[in-house]
Amino acid sequence: MPRKDRLGRIFQNAGGELDVVAIFNGDHADPNFFYISGYRSGIFERNALFLFPDGHVEVLTNTLEEDAARQRKDYTVHVEKGSGPAERRGLVSSILKGSARVGINFQGVSHKDYLTLKTMLDSKKLVDVSDALARSRLVKDPDELELISKAAQIISGVVEGVPGLLKEGMTERALKAQIDYQMVERGADSPSFESIVAFGESSALPHYSAGERRLRRGDNVLVDVGARYRLYCSDITRTFFFGRAVPSQKQAYSKVLEAQTKAIEAIREGVSGKAVHQAAARVIDGSEFKGRFTHSLGHSLGLEVHDGPGLSLRNSAKLKRDMVVTVEPGIYLPGEGGVRIEDDVAVTKGSCRLLTTAPKGLVEI
Ligand code: GLY
Ligand code: MN
Repeated sequence: MPRKDRLGRIFQNAGGELDVVAIFNGDHADPNFFYISGYRSGIFERNALFLFPDGHVEVLTNTLEEDAARQRKDYTVHVEKGSGPAERRGLVSSILKGSARVGINFQGVSHKDYLTLKTMLDSKKLVDVSDALARSRLVKDPDELELISKAAQIISGVVEGVPGLLKEGMTERALKAQIDYQMVERGADSPSFESIVAFGESSALPHYSAGERRLRRGDNVLVDVGARYRLYCSDITRTFFFGRAVPSQKQAYSKVLEAQTKAIEAIREGVSGKAVHQAAARVIDGSEFKGRFTHSLGHSLGLEVHDGPGLSLRNSAKLKRDMVVTVEPGIYLPGEGGVRIEDDVAVTKGSCRLLTTAPKGLVEI
């Protein structure tokens, strides 16, 4: 059986009478496939998972993933031998024989796959359960909190060592390669997203990718990186100064840190994501950097690095205990550079718990 509380949450959030929730993977597995099944290894592309209200799970797999799928002895496993679409249609229709209303994660299937599904399931009512799944995943179970904490510890250790890796003339890509290597060496499965390493003016672009820019004296060094540990993500940003920071760099750094501190102080169960964003934005917009904080304060974190809504003007929903969000204010000065500081926190009743632990004092190398 999958975890009873997860299962209950999914059917409860979906509302209405559903006979089954079916997750159809595309070329990349849907994170909900892992959330529901509890599988931790295997790729499972083009596989499907069927979750029934009585708690039983059936998996449609192929010969490539059969051994991985059979690791769960309590799941009924159907194996496609690869003879073509008719074989798949036959297996799916036998699994869904008694089901009239089928919940589908519309957000996780391509339009092309949806059209195939609609034809294959033409006698069924397909119900979109994407919001229900996303809402179910926002509040983390104890084992999820442990895995995210571990991912956060790994990346904190790597980032703490970044000042010691900096050498004048090195490229952003060279630093990125060292960071990616170190996180895996410390136990990560992989980076949780394409690592952002930005020197100087590159750091003014919040979603920059590392390039051939070489490190020069006077540069901001912004690293925004995350580790994936047993499928769960962390996400941290630190900004260092290569050489003595000039007054404008110091001012930007201290405003971002102040904004982040105010936001972290505001986080607790029952406060809206919007109110926390505003607590940080007020600090920056009340300074000489007004208008230079150009994105939302944070996102939910879990099986995906952007795991749902978090701290933004668009999110009036109240935070709940055991949600995990990032807190990442920034100041961006086009053509000059940017400063961002990001940590991962777990919401508690009266405050929050920091999961990332790398120091945040201003560092000049
Ligand atoms: N760490 C990248 C992002 O949050 O978008
Ligand atoms: Mn982030």
